[in-house]
Amino acid sequence: MRIEREETLIEVVTGDITTLALDAIVNAANESLLGGGGVDGAIHRAAGPGLLAECRSIGGCPTGEARITRGHDLPARHVIHTVGPVWHGGGRNEEALLAAAYRNSFALAREHGLASIAFPAISTGIYGFPKDRAARIAARAALAECGAFARIVLCCFNAGDAVVYVNALRAEDAA
Ligand code: AR6
Repeated sequence: MRIEREETLIEVVTGDITTLALDAIVNAANESLLGGGGVDGAIHRAAGPGLLAECRSIGGCPTGEARITRGHDLPARHVIHTVGPVWHGGGRNEEALLAAAYRNSFALAREHGLASIAFPAISTGIYGFPKDRAARIAARAALAECGAFARIVLCCFNAGDAVVYVNALRAEDAA
């Protein structure tokens, strides 16, 4: 699914984010920035050891913030590492922290003059954030950046997740 608003193409795609040749892909990292499972593990495997070395020099990232590195062996030019919140039931500011992770990733991309960026479904795997709520936050964040990017990709790992993100994008676009 794709929608175009103010010269910005927002797409929901299904697939492996490590294969996308964009200005940046976003990593759903943890505060250490030293790798992990899920999409973080996949990005580090595909980028090669240079990415871990560059991440070590950064020294971590608090939840809700973002840091940028080069893409190393990835087809993407940069990786923006952000840390989504662990879901604890919703009473620990999780929604605001997830929104901040998207907002700060976009801000970093804008500061570096990047035109195209792809996000995974941050926090919805190991961190347990409910997918429908996470998708609404992602869709709202993407729509807020219309005009600032040529292309924004919400990259889901399977077709079931993509349906959730498509529905969220439609709902937020109509809101
Ligand atoms: N391409 C796109 N999406 C993917 C890929 C991929 N190659 N692999 C997994 N996903 P998760 P989190 C999806 O668990 O919940 C790590 O250990 C996955 O299906 O990767 O933010 C970090 O180091 C899910 O929809 O990230 C942290 O410790 C989404 O990516 C912790 O996990 C996010 O799932 C972060 O947990």
